Amino acid sequence: MTATIAKPEAPVKNLAMDLVRVTEAGALASARWLGKGDKNAGDQAAVDAMRLSFNSMDIAGTVIIGEGEKDAAPMLYNGEQVGTGQGVAMDIAVDPVEGTNLLAFGRPNAISVVGVAPGGSMFNPGPSFYMQKLVVPAPARDAVDLDAPVDVNLKHIAKALGKDVDDLVVFVLDKPRHEKLIKKIRGCGARIQLHTDGDVAGALMAVDPRSEVDVMMGTGGTPEGVIAACAIKAMGGQLFGRLDPQSFVEKEALQEAGIDMREIMTVESMIKSDDVFFAATGISGGTFLRGVQYTGTGAITHSMVMRAKTGSVRYIEAHHNLDRLMKISAVAYD
Ligand code: FBP
Repeated sequence: MTATIAKPEAPVKNLAMDLVRVTEAGALASARWLGKGDKNAGDQAAVDAMRLSFNSMDIAGTVIIGEGEKDAAPMLYNGEQVGTGQGVAMDIAVDPVEGTNLLAFGRPNAISVVGVAPGGSMFNPGPSFYMQKLVVPAPARDAVDLDAPVDVNLKHIAKALGKDVDDLVVFVLDKPRHEKLIKKIRGCGARIQLHTDGDVAGALMAVDPRSEVDVMMGTGGTPEGVIAACAIKAMGGQLFGRLDPQSFVEKEALQEAGIDMREIMTVESMIKSDDVFFAATGISGGTFLRGVQYTGTGAITHSMVMRAKTGSVRYIEAHHNLDRLMKISAVAYD
């Protein structure tokens, strides 16, 4: 009689320790394109490196969120199978370069990110590109309401954090759609960080007590919202989100798909499991994670690695010897 070995249904180890090799690969490959004005080339380099790196992981991964459709960028496409196929079925949310313009123009906070959760537990945004988001740190997670006026939310956040409203720093994407929001925040006396791109970094800064950012407000990508939710599950805090179509075509696609545009989502409704893992590696240097630094013989990367079940958050500085790496790697990192 042959014994059958049941496949595990939940990951038994910290997969994020493997995931960081994937985001390091993405960052090392794309950082060569820093400031060169070609966002697709940087994205493609990261996609190729990450795909190779993913395929050495013993998971049966399905890409639920492969960033890129919005602007026809190269991508790890939605539905793509990654990993060796051995091991646990996992949903993958990946953004090889989050902030492709930040990379192309050499601006801070371009990062390579991956979130992973058990198969079937991750929200699939379908035809939704944009989501209204309100991200707050743990002490303020029960103090806000997505539908409340901006001044009321800021007052409640300040109280929950033991600060005054004019102490607060609000991360907002610098987009014409946020003109009124920015006026309202300024009207309350709160301070603002305006960033052209990169609201995954913005969301992480909002929940990270080490950052001067206290809250993120405004509309950004829906896939980016789900990616950020993976990290917030580990770091604590909350992301309240509601689909916020920015064009008639997007709205019609959501209506046709029967998607409820009124629902307020949270990290718990976007990721229905605690077996969640997240890794991010800095590509361009920022206040949030340092960028890839080439040393002549190698490169140094800075990453954060998290596991939601245990709440562990690790910061990893890795020193890569590119000559030796390229003897065993198919990726051209030089
Ligand atoms: P990319 O990585 O696809 O370039 O996205 C960058 C980004 O700024 C996200 O961080 C954000 O969620 C989204 O774009 C906002 O979209 P838009 O620039 O269309 O307003």
